[in-house]
Amino acid sequence: MLHLKEILTYNQQLRLVEMCREIAKVAPFITPVMPSGQPMNCQQTSCGQVGWTVDKQGYRYSHTQPNGRAFPAMPDSLANLADHVASLVDEPSYFAHTCLINHYQASSKSKLGLHQDNTEVNLEPCIISISIGDDCEFVMRSAPASYGGTNRSDPTKTIILRSGDILVMHGQSRLAYHGVKRIIPNTAPKGLLKNNGRLNMTIRQVF
Ligand code: SIN
Ligand code: MN
Repeated sequence: MLHLKEILTYNQQLRLVEMCREIAKVAPFITPVMPSGQPMNCQQTSCGQVGWTVDKQGYRYSHTQPNGRAFPAMPDSLANLADHVASLVDEPSYFAHTCLINHYQASSKSKLGLHQDNTEVNLEPCIISISIGDDCEFVMRSAPASYGGTNRSDPTKTIILRSGDILVMHGQSRLAYHGVKRIIPNTAPKGLLKNNGRLNMTIRQVF
């Protein structure tokens, strides 16, 4: 796991917020409902060739939004950022097929249960996670002496993810269980998001 702390400047973060707003004009945020029938405790949208989708039938990548339309294209600047970050973990031929955007309201209800990112057809390329807005308590299962616990019985570690952080799950942490325990209110840089809360962008190579 590579944790680049507060690596994005305020202006870079502002541009990413604006990017998310443009994406949401074409692919509005939805509150997905899990196969169990429970709604997720965050809102989601995507850009790129495919988008991560969950509904009663399960988890998958889809070429279309629930409204039947394609997802907006991957912005060049995001693909370039992904290329740069992937090169830092020795993945020079990374291809950013999609970016899943999660929005967590500034609420004690906002969270994401412990899970593995294993819907991708190709499970080797890294997952690049960008945090913007309020801090969060991010949990990751850790195998003894290192991050990257891929067994349910591994202990968890809590990492604070702050606005401007980039976390890369690669190598032995690629399939680590992880989740968002809580959003820490009133910690976002001023003026970045209208109602604070947290945006998380995860760039993924799917194929
Ligand atoms: C995710 O695991 O898909 C998102 C994680 C996060 O919000 O930091
Ligand atoms: Mn995940």
